Amino acid sequence: MTKERVLSGMRSSGKPHLGNLLGALKNWVQLQETYDCFYFIADWHALTTGYADTAQNREWVREIAIDYLSAGLDPDKSVLFIQSLVPEHAELHLLLSMITPLPWLERVPTFREQQQEMTDRDLATYGFLGYPLLQTADIIMYKANWVPVGLDQVPHIELSREVVRRFHHLYNVKIFPEPQPKLTEVPKLPGLDGRKMSKSYDNTIYLSDSQATLTDKVKTMMTDPARQRRRDPGNPDVCPVFDFHRIYSTEAERQEVAQGCRTAGIGCIDCKGVLIRNMLTDLQPLHEKRAYYVAHPQEAMDVLVAGSAQARTIARATMAEVREAIHI
Ligand code: TRP
Ligand code: SF4
Repeated sequence: MTKERVLSGMRSSGKPHLGNLLGALKNWVQLQETYDCFYFIADWHALTTGYADTAQNREWVREIAIDYLSAGLDPDKSVLFIQSLVPEHAELHLLLSMITPLPWLERVPTFREQQQEMTDRDLATYGFLGYPLLQTADIIMYKANWVPVGLDQVPHIELSREVVRRFHHLYNVKIFPEPQPKLTEVPKLPGLDGRKMSKSYDNTIYLSDSQATLTDKVKTMMTDPARQRRRDPGNPDVCPVFDFHRIYSTEAERQEVAQGCRTAGIGCIDCKGVLIRNMLTDLQPLHEKRAYYVAHPQEAMDVLVAGSAQARTIARATMAEVREAIHI
């Protein structure tokens, strides 16, 4: 029996943080056991918004490569690659652009939303409009069945299904499966200030943060604002620190901390101390692997370069079918 195929990627527009680990990477690692997995670094997608400031591009690709491997993505189980090392993605994107009606792209919600959010740059570009179509090329190149992504990405997967149907209809072929989003329950992890964890809010814990940096960040993390002094009782349900406890602490510890918070029996420093210990324990294997790759960054890159050659073999075969279908 052949395994179904999973594909996902992360844009190299910054260093991965705990939100990326919990929201994506941990899940990807799990999927390796049951599916035929492809995971890549979307360095072209990073350019759709970051075209003007490319100085850190290579650094971020290297950081993500290190984080992929440190989180447990395994080149013996999955194909790990870099988008720009498989230039067939650009060719497929171009060919798909010929058959994709403009309104399909203009009505993708992230298009207008991001244009309105990122007011510091001009996103009225051809490349940014084509973002979800390049994503479609990424996915269908490998005939992926499943795409593990967050809710915000579901319209992109829907677009890819529509594009697949149009391609098949126009050229009277059946080459690609219609990909489906794979949504998984992810625990809610806020940023250090209680808002969504995001590098644009500067409220993140990076996977590359040292144990000391992580400790400092948690120590200065926002708590229930009603707990000004040690003797003020607090409410764990409105405290971002407690959201972290829900992920990293045992049920018994959680109950003790919540009870202590509500009765002012413990201080926030004690509460955070328990959390820091649990986080460091959970992240220890990742931190250890990371330390190795930081000392040997070329090894991490070599893994991704080798994976890209594997990916390219498949991409070439798909492109042969695509060119045949459109008589190119
Ligand atoms: N758009 C995705 C994100 O921002 C990244 C991405 C690019 C992707 N190509 C992909 C995800 C293909 C899944 C499949 O998270
Ligand atoms: Fe938050 Fe813990 Fe302080 Fe309560 S004791 S306010 S849960 S940090």
